[in-house]
Amino acid sequence: MTIKVHPPATVLVLVAVLAISIAGCQRHQGADNDSGTSMVMAEPTDYSPSQKAAILETFPAPYNTADLAAGEKQFAKCRACHTITPDRMNMTGPHLYGLFGRKSGTEPGYTYTEAMTAHNVVWDFGTLDTYINAPQQVVKGTKMGYTGIQNATDRHNLIAYLALETTPRSESAGTVSQGASSQSQKLP
Ligand code: HEC
Repeated sequence: MTIKVHPPATVLVLVAVLAISIAGCQRHQGADNDSGTSMVMAEPTDYSPSQKAAILETFPAPYNTADLAAGEKQFAKCRACHTITPDRMNMTGPHLYGLFGRKSGTEPGYTYTEAMTAHNVVWDFGTLDTYINAPQQVVKGTKMGYTGIQNATDRHNLIAYLALETTPRSESAGTVSQGASSQSQKLP
């Protein structure tokens, strides 16, 4: 059996695909609480190298000179328990998407220990650095079964990587000079 695809049919398929992607973007713009998988497609965090460099520059020292690729390797230590993608999927630990600016122990849909809820900090470069150095000492009674990263450079690389990857693209857009995603602007 042979299916002949005429040029007009190809165009139709392209138009359909385009329409679907536009619909996906609009759905995301309208409903932030929509935690469907469509958000994975609607908000990719794969920045170009120059965009990454531009965002990195906005970080406070010493994170502004961090090695993002090395940070990604450090994240292998967290990956078994945490996701960092826009689909906000909790595993053994809460998802870390949108982590910066989140108050500790407050992600809806995840059951924290009282220790983590009582920790009462806003996650940022500094609070994460302190925590990741020695989680079980900093939050006594946490159920996060991880002893921490004592090497400061490793921590800085990891935290810079997390800041880049877990911050919604729409929030980083202001710091990215070129090609801020279609996220922040209405489509014509
Ligand atoms: C063995 C599983 C496991 C590993 C590995 C792990 N975590 Fe966790 N993490 C957890 C759990 C479980 C919690 C919830 C802790 C609680 O409620 O006491 C948590 C909580 C957190 C929180 C607090 C989140 C919030 O919403 O307040 C942060 C930040 C965090 N982890 C970062 C990391 C980083 C970074 C790494 C890698 C260096 C890591 N974790 C490795 C299981 C893990």
